[in-house]
Amino acid sequence: MTTTELTSSLISTLPGHYYTDAELFQLEQQRVFEEMWFCAVRAADLDRPGAFRTVSVGRESVVVSRNRAGEVRAFLNVCRHRGARLCTEEQGQVRRSFKCPYHAWTYDLDGGLVAAPNLASMPDVDRAAQGLIRVHVREWLGYVWVCLADEPPSFTETVEDVVAQRLGTAESITNYGVDGLALGRRISYDVRANWKLVIENFMECYHCGTIHPELTEVLPEFADGYAAQYYVGHGAEFGSEVEGFTVDGSAGFERLDGVTEDQDRRYYAITVPPQVFINLVPDHVIVHRMFPIAVDRTLIECDWLYTPGIIESGADISRSVELFDRVNRQDFDACERCQPAMASRAYRAGGVLVPVEHHIGEFHTWLADRLADTVQ
Ligand code: FES
Ligand SMILES: [Fe+2]
Repeated sequence: MTTTELTSSLISTLPGHYYTDAELFQLEQQRVFEEMWFCAVRAADLDRPGAFRTVSVGRESVVVSRNRAGEVRAFLNVCRHRGARLCTEEQGQVRRSFKCPYHAWTYDLDGGLVAAPNLASMPDVDRAAQGLIRVHVREWLGYVWVCLADEPPSFTETVEDVVAQRLGTAESITNYGVDGLALGRRISYDVRANWKLVIENFMECYHCGTIHPELTEVLPEFADGYAAQYYVGHGAEFGSEVEGFTVDGSAGFERLDGVTEDQDRRYYAITVPPQVFINLVPDHVIVHRMFPIAVDRTLIECDWLYTPGIIESGADISRSVELFDRVNRQDFDACERCQPAMASRAYRAGGVLVPVEHHIGEFHTWLADRLADTVQ
């Protein structure tokens, strides 16, 4: 299924069942989220050896942790003995090993099987072969990205280049020093909508004039409906009276060290398929990670990142957090308003995209290709 040309102004969206069909969602989990690089956890959240987080990646639970040398490791959260879930908490800290709560098979921080009741009486057991199943990991922008595929796609091509292509150059993102920033605030949203509605919403700004009064005050050009993602290298400019990217346009903080004159007083938004949104403003960076957990439910973790000095000083970040928190709630409300209608007969053949939304059609084609290419 690809998008169909209706007129030069209107092209069709995906049909409604793409947002409601549980089997199709399973296929997406398998062919998209379990095959691509997935931004799983913030590296700084794993602050010492044995600190761990468990995250849903596609249909799997994954444990992300640090070994004794401080290197990030990720494993499928499945005991090799009889399959019990190894870590049941969302986050925690072990001393030197993960011990299964069922029969006490115990794995070191590199996943190797190191102990089990009666293991000594089973000398033929190959402890290496019975270790936890490792998952590929990469660290970038201060986040741990994991890939469940046996042969992961190129991280450079599928992640770094996507950011560079949107911003025009590879250095543009480097200027923000994202991996050196500190977490100022994290807000989790439980959105009752299909993950694609969330992406599509993020990709367009046709709705900005209607639902984002605070954002369009700060970024007046958004009132025209052109998303910042529409043009390569374009960042939406702050209004002339606006002092900072805050809920009331009041002053924010000093601009980040590497941010250039060209990037100052501008907002850049980047979608890294399939589940990351990056928002760059001169004094902070906002990163959204999406976790699709059901065909009609998506968890979103949003991090507001500032220089460590700002966070350590206890500076008031509430006005800058509030701007995008409001934007998020306005966006997610809109997605939730659309979700029930996806099952309506009115949407059987889908809806339409206006010209300022046509780039969403490329996302649909991308998705359809991924699903089609990989179906056996
Ligand atoms: S299932 Fe984990 S030790 Fe038995
Ligand atoms: Fe929006």
